[in-house]
Amino acid sequence: MIDSIKENIKLNLESKYSGQSFVVESPKHGHADLAIPLFGLAKAWKMNPKLVFDKVKEDLDDPSIEKILFTNGFLNIFLHRNDYAIKVLNELNEFKSLADKNETVVIDYSSPNIAKSFSVGHLRSTVIGNALKNIYEKSGYKVVGVNHLGDWGTQFGKMIVAYNRLTKPLDLSKDPIKKLQALYVGFHEDAKEDPSLEVQAREVFKALENGNEAYLTLWKQFRDLSLEEFMNMYDILNVSFDAYEGEAFYNDKMDEVVTALDEKGLLKIDDGATIVDLGEDLPPALIKRSDGATLYLTRDLAALKYRHDHYGAKKVIYVVGNEQQLHFKQLTQVAKLLEYPVEIEHVNFGLVMLDGKKMSTRGGKTKRLEDVILQAINDAKDAITEKNPSLSQKDEVAKAVGVGAIVFNDLKNERHLNVDFSLENMLKFEGQTGPYLQYSSVRIESILKDTKIDMDKVDAQVYAGDIYFELIKLLDQFQSNIIRAKDLNAPSVIAKYAISLAQAFNSFYGQQKVIVDDLTILNSNLYFVKTIQLIINECLNLLGIKSLKEM
Ligand code: ARG
Repeated sequence: MIDSIKENIKLNLESKYSGQSFVVESPKHGHADLAIPLFGLAKAWKMNPKLVFDKVKEDLDDPSIEKILFTNGFLNIFLHRNDYAIKVLNELNEFKSLADKNETVVIDYSSPNIAKSFSVGHLRSTVIGNALKNIYEKSGYKVVGVNHLGDWGTQFGKMIVAYNRLTKPLDLSKDPIKKLQALYVGFHEDAKEDPSLEVQAREVFKALENGNEAYLTLWKQFRDLSLEEFMNMYDILNVSFDAYEGEAFYNDKMDEVVTALDEKGLLKIDDGATIVDLGEDLPPALIKRSDGATLYLTRDLAALKYRHDHYGAKKVIYVVGNEQQLHFKQLTQVAKLLEYPVEIEHVNFGLVMLDGKKMSTRGGKTKRLEDVILQAINDAKDAITEKNPSLSQKDEVAKAVGVGAIVFNDLKNERHLNVDFSLENMLKFEGQTGPYLQYSSVRIESILKDTKIDMDKVDAQVYAGDIYFELIKLLDQFQSNIIRAKDLNAPSVIAKYAISLAQAFNSFYGQQKVIVDDLTILNSNLYFVKTIQLIINECLNLLGIKSLKEM
């Protein structure tokens, strides 16, 4: 609301004083609702600030303005509080999403590699990507969430060679990923002794690309078993995708890209391999190996074209760790040479740290990520049982709290920073945590319980008091925070906003009795806290965290 008032005032003044631009600010903890700094104008017009004030004041006729004061070189604007407050509350209660942008964005996230364990990096990608998907949808975009599974490449040649060398059949009915991963590790050990295995693996992958039935059957088995495990994880995290189009999906779509590169005269043969020269600043892009096998980059080019042609994507967002920076620079550069009309954005992120060291769930020794999440759910259950022994549906609640804690802990900091992974800290009911937000919402739920708001009794006059009005202004920042989160691809913007809202509510509630005898104040209060709860829940939702009615 305030943003449109601001914009109106600015445009109005600028149309009156053509050629002159005006700054309209929202002072942080100011005494005013809006302020126009006058020094610049005073200088430009060679007038003293007070005279500028008198002049500009005459031109301010916005009906939302109550009074205008001159203080310290600023023109300070105060809004009609009642009017503004009720408009903010009503607008938020009707809000579904920002205006339709009529534009499709593909978000590529999670994208784990089959036959390998789901890494901490993939968890970050999943959580950040899922939140971005929600944020873009709220911002009025059509979003297609794609899981670009790593299900193709020479490593499958290696796995198949290793598998076929086994003397005893492998029982993949339990812990398939662990066993397949061990197979892969074993292959590398054996290949140190016998380098011809590497050659075999490449030949097998080439045959796989050419459709060898027996190899395809094995590959499909590896893929299905891995997906089953990944699905478990997505189920716990409550994350879904519009499409599982992994690298193998593009097997029949790469020729087209190679032909296009060829027709543009961009291909070069270097030591038998097919490359695109990217100039001084970037290493050449490898399109085909000397044996004709395609590469990760080739598949990403085919994927990019497909996402444009099939989904009509104008923009593709890749939520992938910092270590693939070079890959995405190369992809962007080749796409530019091909003149693909798609914007590419690599949304990168930092590491997860456990006790000051990079957390890893790869390899046999460390814990499986799924077990870490189950541990969080377990700990959450202990905490809620202690707090509320009679709670029904404890398991459901524990799951929402435990998973929410992990998700919030990931999203609360700027994404390029490392994340500290301490179950103890993230599960606290105070401070900047998921449980704190869920708890704040539940607290409001308990106020609202068994009441029905009589909207006829709501009187905006109540909201003119400072203690209400500050919160009204904060509520009014919801939409601008969605826009900022989208512009920066930063779910942390929403996470921080939600925390400030919950804190403001809890401090309000510490000072103000909500349930009172006066029916006007009572109903105004109820409408007010209900709207706060609505926005806290909306934020939780955007972040991919469940809100609760009880905990
Ligand atoms: N599978 C890759 C990995 O785990 C991530 C894929 C990201 N998406 C893409 N289109 N390259 O490292």
